Amino acid sequence: MRKMKIGIIGFGNLGSAIAQKLLEEGHEIFGWNRTPEKVSKIKGARVLSSPWEVVRSSDVTFTILSDDEAVEEVLLKDKEKLSELPEGSIIANISTITPYMSMRLERELGKAKLRYAESPVLGGPQAALSKNLISLLGGKKEIADFIASIMRGVSREVFYIGEVPKASALKLVFNSGTFTAVELIGEMLSLASSWNIDAEIVKNVASKTVLSQIFSTYLDRGLDPNFPPYFYLELAAKDLSYAIYSGRKGGSFTPAIAGAYEAYISAVKSGLGKRYYGAIIRYLLGK
Ligand SMILES: NC(=O)c1ccc[n+]([C@@H]2O[C@H](COP(=O)([O-])OP(=O)(O)OC[C@H]3O[C@@H](n4cnc5c(N)ncnc54)[C@H](OP(=O)(O)O)[C@@H]3O)[C@@H](O)[C@H]2O)c1
Repeated sequence: MRKMKIGIIGFGNLGSAIAQKLLEEGHEIFGWNRTPEKVSKIKGARVLSSPWEVVRSSDVTFTILSDDEAVEEVLLKDKEKLSELPEGSIIANISTITPYMSMRLERELGKAKLRYAESPVLGGPQAALSKNLISLLGGKKEIADFIASIMRGVSREVFYIGEVPKASALKLVFNSGTFTAVELIGEMLSLASSWNIDAEIVKNVASKTVLSQIFSTYLDRGLDPNFPPYFYLELAAKDLSYAIYSGRKGGSFTPAIAGAYEAYISAVKSGLGKRYYGAIIRYLLGK
């Protein structure tokens, strides 16, 4: 594949890993982060002084920021700066945002004669480093195909989902399923412990049921207080709130996801926001 100049805006847990892997794939990386030291930690990435400089220097720029507010702050606060960017520049968003924000991005970038694509991913930093992400692409097909050619460098599967905001919406569908399932493990263990049934016994029985994969992936991580926080619990709470908000506006009824959100937001309020999100299991066990 052609080696490209790739811009990355946002060097948190996910952005840093994607930048690292794309460098290994032979691309040049131009980066900006609110806290610039995080860009310098990725050897070979060029630190630039503004998001606008990144877009100007790159064939395509990815935003990998926390949430709607961060994307708004970085890209939409100063619309004049947007309209000064070279016509046709491509910005693809990897951050998990609401479908409403994604539609707004498409509209505002379009007004500035820029091109936009959705590029959310399933999987985290380790998956990016081992080319194991599942990439969901959205937007005009020819731009999505171009983004796909880059995302294959960090992904094992790439799906074209359709026009904006379908890929952003589907990302929320899968995250709410996973986070609710992990929360459910916590509720099951809590119920079992009220009858003095050990977590290990629950795990052994679960391994023979349809819950096998979810227990084998998440139970030990959730019980380990030192599991590395590659995905923060506060981001899981954010994704669940986005799923509920976006779904309700569209007429969906999601009581299980709403219940899981209550548990996660309560864990955030108790100070667990920067822990690995599987800590929800220990939180529900009162540990
Ligand atoms: N980690 C994962 O496994 C994973 C997987 C799939 C999707 N995602 C999604 O990818 C996005 C990034 O996740 P992450 O794990 O990398 O999060 P993170 O480690 O918390 O990093 C967040 C990034 O957003 C920046 N940021 C936050 N608020 C900002 C603001 N107001 N202005 C400018 N920059 C701001 C941070 O800058 P500073 O460094 O200066 O704070 C940092 O670069 C999120 O939407 C997340 O839901 C994450």
